[in-house]
Order: sequence, then C-alpha cells, then structure tokens
Amino acid sequence: MRYSTALFALAAPLLASAAPARFYGKRADSDILVFKFADVLEQLESAFYEQAIAKFKDADFTAAGFSSSQIPIEQFLNIQADEATHSVALQAALKSFGETPITGCKFNFDSALTDVATMAATARVVENVGVTAYLGGATLLTDPVLLTAAGSILTVEARHQTILNVLSGTGTAIPAAFDFAFTPSEVLALAGPFITGGCEIPIPANTPLGLTNTGTVAPGTLLKFQASSINGTVPEDSLFCQMLVGGAPFSIPLPLSQCVVPEGINGPVALFITTDGQPLINNVRDRAQNKVIAGPALAFIDTKPELIAQVIRGASASGSNGQQQSSTSTRTISPAEASSIVVSAGATATDAGAPAPTSTSSTDGYAQAPAGNGASSGAGPNQYTGKSADGKITVNGWKGQTSA
Ligand SMILES: *[C@@H]1O[C@H](CO)[C@@H](O)[C@H](O)[C@H]1NC(C)=O
Repeated sequence: MRYSTALFALAAPLLASAAPARFYGKRADSDILVFKFADVLEQLESAFYEQAIAKFKDADFTAAGFSSSQIPIEQFLNIQADEATHSVALQAALKSFGETPITGCKFNFDSALTDVATMAATARVVENVGVTAYLGGATLLTDPVLLTAAGSILTVEARHQTILNVLSGTGTAIPAAFDFAFTPSEVLALAGPFITGGCEIPIPANTPLGLTNTGTVAPGTLLKFQASSINGTVPEDSLFCQMLVGGAPFSIPLPLSQCVVPEGINGPVALFITTDGQPLINNVRDRAQNKVIAGPALAFIDTKPELIAQVIRGASASGSNGQQQSSTSTRTISPAEASSIVVSAGATATDAGAPAPTSTSSTDGYAQAPAGNGASSGAGPNQYTGKSADGKITVNGWKGQTSA
C-alpha cells in the first residue's frame, strides 16, 4: 500500500535531483509544453479516479462481476495516488523552470461514471491515452534528462494499463509487444471531451472520433463512426478509416464503408478517419496530419482473454466460455463503447463542473456497516465507507488500512 502523502514529499526532490544543475532555469518551449500538457492529463486522470472511487459502492463492484470489490478498489486507489503524485512532481518541475502550470481545468466524467463496468472500461482507455501521450511527448523533449524523467512516469502509466487490462475481465494483461504514440493534438481528441473549461490548453485538438458499435468489437466487425467532420461536406464514400497498432510501420487503410477489423489484432487499436487511402506513418514526427479529419479513437480488440482476468472479474465479463458464469447478472461494456462514451462526453458535459461526489459518511477513520464482514445483512458483504490512506478521498466499499 502506498501513501501518497509520503510520495508527495518525495516526488519533487526525486525528479529534481535527477540532475539539479540542469533541471532549473529556462527550458525549450517544446519541453515546457510537454510537461504542461502531461500535467493536465495527470490532473484529469487523478480527478477521474477520485470521482469514481467516491461514487461507487461495494455492491456496484460486485454487480459488475468482480469477485471482491476490494480488488479493483485497491488498484484504483493506488493508481489515483500515482496520478496525483505525477501532477505534483510535474508542477514542481515547471515552477523550477520559472513556468506556471495549467490549472483550473474543469473535468466532467458523468458519461463515464454511470456504472462500474463503464468506468472500468473508460479507465482502460484513459490509461492507454496516458501511455500514448508520454510516448508521443518523447519526440518533443529536447533534454535527455527531462526525457528520462518523463520516461519514469511512462513506465508507471504502462503498469496501470496492464492492471486495467486485467480488471477488464476480457483483456490480455500485456496484449502486444509494442505500444504506439500520439501527438498532443491526437491525445486531445480523446481527452478533450472530458475537459469542460476553466483552463487554456495551447494545443489544437484533433476532431474527436466516436465508435457507434454497441456490441463487442472483434475481428470481422464492421466499425461505425461518428464525428462532427463526417457530415457530408466530404462525401463519405471518399473517406477512409485507418487502423494503427503498435509495432506496425503503417496504419491499415480501408474505405470507410468497409472498415472491418482484421484478424490477428489483439489489444489497443488507434482509429483515424482520413480523406485519402494513404497509410498513416506509425511515428508522431513523420505522421501526415493534413489528411486526418477525425480521431484517433481507441478501441480494444480483445481476442486473447486470459485466466487471470477471469478470476478477478467473472466470466460473464468475457462471455468467451460458459464455464465460470457469475451468479450476478451483469451489464458489460466493451472498450469500444467506452471510446464512444469518451467522445459523447463532450456533448453531454455541462459547464457547471463535475458534481461533488456523494459520500455517505464524513466520519474520520473507517466506518463499518452494522453487519460487519458477514453476508447476513442482506445488503451484501463488506459494506464499508471510509477515507483513503492519505485521508483525501471518501471511499465507498473500501475497508481501508488499520494503520497509516
Ligand atoms: C463538416 O466537416 C468538415 C470537414 O469534413 C468540417 O470542416 C466542417 O467544420 C464540418 N461542419 C460542421 C458543422 O461540423
């Protein structure tokens, strides 16, 4: 169990001590931009988990197929603490450059926090966006010391991604041998819809792209899209979808009307809409952006479900074999659906900022439901509400630690 308060104190000196002599003072514009943008993404991720943890109760997790609510909640708490710590460290670094971090952003995750399944699938998308963002930032960083500092965050985002793949119930922990990178503008196509104002991000955003498929997306599935730029201005039969996977030199271009997921894909796929069929280059420095009219969207094509995920999340989440059907009837959501939720967030988010998380207890320490651990109350086992280890978040369904 990590304690974010301890990490907060450590993080800035750790980053700064990597090379004190070179870490301070004026930096290249692109270095500053990458750090500022990364910090906004960390704030977004941290707020997402904070609201998710505060909103959902023990029973919400078990209803989503988790064998125990404590398993996902423990991971979400750890991930949230990491993201908050990353933001603190990045802001400290920016201040040491004489720069002001971007603050005040309002985030609205209402569309992604409707239920645990939606939240977990969206988290998987959000975390992969983090990986692609840091990887894409690497091209823009001019100082190898800052590159290493950013890399030390990237590796942790990738671990988060792995855990979320497992928590998805359907995914492969480590689905592919390579990841892919996004430019900041591409990242904003995915993250932007959750940012409802309050801050100025000096980066143009690509047009968000949503998948409208509602069922499981698998090899053979014809992908359907929505975007404000797919509106008839350019005839749809002249548009192309482009699928980009890690490790491939180019994307796979297909006419939009024949955008079928090919065999042999497992894990995250970046989807773009372009006005010609020229493949997109799989590196952010050389990728031609002028033909991209929407995207990327992120979909997870889960073709190799693993036992580890099925143990933690009932087989009902995977549906791949009927042997471990959970007794609870669950609504599952595919990560492709999560992708469209990410995009529709922009349309549904209000500008009033996210509502305060509903907490059922404001007591310090850990309040325990009368029935204790037993299942005798009828309200389900392990009905807890309490503070996270750092005392910052009220957590429903979390037993918490006995000492901190
Ligand atoms: C329609 O799409 C084009 C590009 O395909 C874009 O330039 C234009 O702004 C879009 N119109 C609306 C109303 O979104």
